[in-house]
Amino acid sequence: MSYKNIRLETDQDGIALITVDRPEKLNALNRETMGELDDAFTRARNDAAIRGLIITGAGEKAFVAGADIKELAVLAPIEAQELSRRGQTIFRELERMTKPSVAAINGFALGGGLELAMSCSVRIAGPEAKFGQPEVKLGIIPGYGGTQRLPRLVGRGRALEMLISGEVIDSSEAYRIGLVNYITPAEDLVSFSRAWVRKVLANGPIALALTMEAVDVGLDCGLEQGLQFEAAAFGLTAATEDRHEGTRAFLEKRKPVFAGK
Ligand code: COA
Repeated sequence: MSYKNIRLETDQDGIALITVDRPEKLNALNRETMGELDDAFTRARNDAAIRGLIITGAGEKAFVAGADIKELAVLAPIEAQELSRRGQTIFRELERMTKPSVAAINGFALGGGLELAMSCSVRIAGPEAKFGQPEVKLGIIPGYGGTQRLPRLVGRGRALEMLISGEVIDSSEAYRIGLVNYITPAEDLVSFSRAWVRKVLANGPIALALTMEAVDVGLDCGLEQGLQFEAAAFGLTAATEDRHEGTRAFLEKRKPVFAGK
């Protein structure tokens, strides 16, 4: 599939940079853009050469200013439900990829934009970035996971405050409540994100994937099942060459070289 609304570029370290590229509409997610993101996430998941992802927005103003309101304005109820399920599935694919992902937030992250950012492993923002779930101001509710991921990230009280007021917060407030992990100068956003992913990718690849899966299982199914999964996955790591290499490298006071086996 060739893309019209996004760009996908993979560097020599296997880090895919996905740029939502509709700056004239503040990178709003219309159906076509969602279809392209779906394709890009499927490619990223299936391509072993892609080891991590960075998602950002084109231009200086917006990461993604939401789902496309022009399309939302004319949806019939069942159509709207289907659009929501489709968007949820696409973002869930990103979230469950077990490859580290960064939302490099260069401006407005509103509605579907914040929902996209929350589906990444971490969020790194420029000082001018703005965050919000303003759907209630349009008489609708978040449909791409916002009501579920925001409370999981920042807690019920702060999430409800943002969700029912629809108000927008700035980077320093987002950092204070744990919605973003780092704030960095706008011009360094992508290079900082790349460095972060590279640092993560130096860890044991199987351990990385299992850790992400364990967090997801626990948040999905609850503590008991999460703990069970953790123990099983911990057992599995004991069978890997990576465990052997990682522990031996520590004892030999050198850096490990993981094979992902
Ligand atoms: N869907 C469709 N188009 C959007 C959009 C969205 N979510 N967000 C911005 N745009 C479009 C605007 O309609 C405008 O298009 P036009 O030039 O053809 O009129 C263009 O992007 C620029 O936006 P504009 O509103 O002129 O920029 P601004 O700097 O004055 O305001 C925002 C920026 C982000 C505050 C404002 O665009 C906004 O409130 N957007 C909607 C945010 C939202 O509610 N998102 C959740 C959707 S569920």
